[in-house]
Order: sequence, then structure tokens, then C-alpha cells
Amino acid sequence: MSDPKKLFIKTYGCQMNVYDSERMAEAMGAEGYVTTEVQEEADMVLLNTCHIREKASEKLYSDLGRLRALKLEKPNLKVGVAGCVAQAEGAEILRRSSVVDLVVGPQAYHRLPQMVAAGGRLVDTDFPVEDKFSVLPARKVTRGPAAFLTVQEGCDKFCAFCVVPYTRGAEVSRPVARLLDEARGLVAQGVREITLLGQNVNAYHGEGPDGAWGLARLVRELALVEGLERLRYTTSHPNDMEDDLIAAHGDLPQLMPYLHLPVQSGSDRILKAMNRKHTADAYLRLVDRIRAARPDILLSSDFIVGFPGETDADFAATMDLIRTVGFGMAFSFKYSARPGTPAAEKDPVPAEVADARLQELQSLVTAQQRAAQEAMVGREVSVLYEKPGRLPGQMVGKSDHLHAVHVQDEAGRIGQLVRVRVSGSSSNSLAAVPVSAAH
Ligand code: SAH
Ligand code: SF4
Ligand code: F3S
Repeated sequence: MSDPKKLFIKTYGCQMNVYDSERMAEAMGAEGYVTTEVQEEADMVLLNTCHIREKASEKLYSDLGRLRALKLEKPNLKVGVAGCVAQAEGAEILRRSSVVDLVVGPQAYHRLPQMVAAGGRLVDTDFPVEDKFSVLPARKVTRGPAAFLTVQEGCDKFCAFCVVPYTRGAEVSRPVARLLDEARGLVAQGVREITLLGQNVNAYHGEGPDGAWGLARLVRELALVEGLERLRYTTSHPNDMEDDLIAAHGDLPQLMPYLHLPVQSGSDRILKAMNRKHTADAYLRLVDRIRAARPDILLSSDFIVGFPGETDADFAATMDLIRTVGFGMAFSFKYSARPGTPAAEKDPVPAEVADARLQELQSLVTAQQRAAQEAMVGREVSVLYEKPGRLPGQMVGKSDHLHAVHVQDEAGRIGQLVRVRVSGSSSNSLAAVPVSAAH
């Protein structure tokens, strides 16, 4: 028997791409492909791309440039481009790079095996009527006890800067029964934590046994799955934080006390220009309600600096909002004009102004992040062991608050949920030792 063919997947962008990469690996797995971490030994290379900022999309072409040499060495090597750049650029990718054989969009990747079998240079960026998830093979857990589960795809919000509504299409929610099946299947394979994913996850409105269910109801049902100890969801939009979802943070011990709730800016003028459809004050009131339900919750956000028209006063309002909320974590980006989006038509803020603002904002959120981590020192927290650490006898996992934790635990095993005491905090993680009584 010949060796199985090897598939190398590189994933850029958001967690939804991570999920899609796993599903593509499973789809090709059914055709006899095994995944490899070593690009040079691959028979097929799949680049699962992100289009969100210019830099992200450019990475595709620099990677394709590097793949040229490998393809010369291995003429039978298949190169596929998937994800949001595939959707946005389609056949243009084949024109720009002779290395590429296949271009497949995020809604069409269940057809990847047929495309590979057909041979030749092909593009499929359809939004087909069939649901790709009902065609794809069952999940096969390879990434350990914490898994992703996409419940919703697409976005109807059309923020003025964002390509996602164009690359991922309109909001579609998966049916409740399918999600419960997938979750139970994951748990049966040892998964103990599930992060529900959606470009707009809290806009979830999937078909249930008695009409459409919102995210809160789905989360409550998943909390009943035996063996599923932790639930998270991301990314949520402030305008879709319904009362029952906020209440679930107070009622459900499985729902972890960490919420990514991007606000983008603290200036009402900029929020309006961004088409975010809420004010800074509405966001602050929402934060109060969430904290009333779950006082120890850690909040995180995304920020864009240098959006067209952003003045010093607008930026100061963003810094004020950050000081008022106190984030456990934040991701900040310099505005990048994306082709086809309304904001791309406007005059940009000078690059050096945007750079300076980004630095200033990042040093504030880094300080807040450090303070949130240091506040954990001396406390008892739970950690789900995901992998061994670099040092002997060390395990690495996430706390309830999503902090990375290194635990010195000779007896530790992957998949254990362990009570530990935090002993120290470094730049990006906590150190801890098991609480002996719990062991
Ligand atoms: N659906 C999520 C975010 C999706 S994109 C939400 O609505 O919050 C992730 C982040 O990338 C965004 O929150 C935003 O901060 C950033 N982003 C999106 N488009 C951008 C652009 N054109 N330039 C810079 N950052 C951008
Ligand atoms: Fe993009 Fe806005 Fe939709 Fe988020 S809500 S994916 S930022 S358009
Ligand atoms: Fe990027 Fe597409 Fe995700 S543009 S952030 S991979 S939805």
C-alpha cells in the first residue's frame, strides 16, 4: 500500500478560519489525506486566508511566492487557497499566481474533495443552497479538550470599514439539533470546553424544535450536556446582547466569565461614521448590566485607530472609554482601507498620527491587561490542561478568565480541569500550582 497523501494547512485570521481548517482537514481526511505540520513533505498545501486588513491579505502572496520553489521541486504538489481572500478575489488569484491550483470560498469548501479529484485549475466561490455542514464528514477531535463550534456565519451589520459582510455573506444560523449533535460528538471524544463561534455570534437565531432559538437558549441547552464543563462564545456585537444572554452569565456556572465585546471607538461621531449603530454611553450602560449579572467578568474589545476623520478629541474619547471600562484584554488595529467598503472612499488620517495613537492606546491596554493578570495572583482558579509545557512536569491551559496558565503538576494529564493557586504573573501568562485538596 502506498503512503497516505499529506495535507499541510496554514490558517490566517479569526477563529472561524481555525474551525473551517479543521473541517477541511476532515473532508480531505475522508479522501485518505493525513495532515502534516511540515510543509515540505506535503502533497497538498492549503492556505486558509484572511482579508480583514491589507497586511493580512498580502501575506497570501508572499507565501505563494515562497511556495514556488517547492512546486518546482514537486510538480504534483497541489496548492489551494481558501478563506476570505479566496472569496474576495476568486479567479484573480489564479491570474496573479501560477502556483495556485484551487480557489475555494468559505461557503464552498465541502466541495474541495471533488475539486481535487477533477484536477486542473478551478475556482468555487459560490454560496450554494446546500448546507456545507450537512455534507461534511463528522468531527474528529485532534486539538485537545477545548474545541470550537461554529453556530452562525456571515454578517448583516455592514460596519463602514469591514469586508466580512462581503466575504462571508449574510447571517445564517445553524439548526439547534445539528449543533447539539456536534457538541455531543465532541464531548464523546473528550472535549470539555466549547467556544461557540460566529462573525456575529449573539445574533444567532437557529431553528429549534419549537421555533427560532436565540444564543441564550442554545447556551442553556448546551450547559445540560453531561461532561461539557465550560462554554464560551465569540464574537458578540453590543447591539445583540439580549437580556436573557446577560442573565445566563449570572445563572450558568458553565458560561465562563470572559466576554469579547468589541466597541471599536469611544467617540460617538466615529461610531456613527463606522455605522456601529450605538453610542459610547450605550456601551458603558451595557457593560454595567453585564457586570451586574457577573461581577468578576473580564471584558475584552477590539479598537480601530485612525479611522477616516478621527480627530485628537475622538481619540481622547476612546482612551476615556478604555479607562472607564478597564479591559482584561484588547486588540487594537490601525485602520486599513479595504476595497469595496464605504470608509475606503474617505480621506485617511496621516499614517504617523495613526501610528502614534496606536502606540498610546496599546500601552494603556497593556497596563490594564497586566493589572487584570496581577489581580489573579494568590487566587484559586480552575485550569483546563490543554498541552504539556516546555519545562518538565509542567502543564499549560486556560483559566476561566481565559488567562494562559503554566502549572507545575507532575501528575497532570491533558483534559483535566484542575483547581490551582496562582503564584505569579508574567507578560502573557500566569504561573500556578495545584491546590492539593483538589488533586
Ligand atoms: N465581527 C466582529 C469582528 C470581526 S473583524 C465584530 O463585529 O466585532 C475583527 C476586528 O478587526 C474588528 O473588530 C475590527 O477591530 C478589526 N477590523 C475590521 N476591519 C478593519 C479594517 N478595515 N481596518 C482595521 N481593522 C479592522
Ligand atoms: Fe465586520 Fe461589523 Fe460585521 Fe463585525 S459587525 S463582522 S466589524 S461588519
Ligand atoms: Fe479574516 Fe475572514 Fe475571519 S476576513 S477575520 S478570516 S471572517
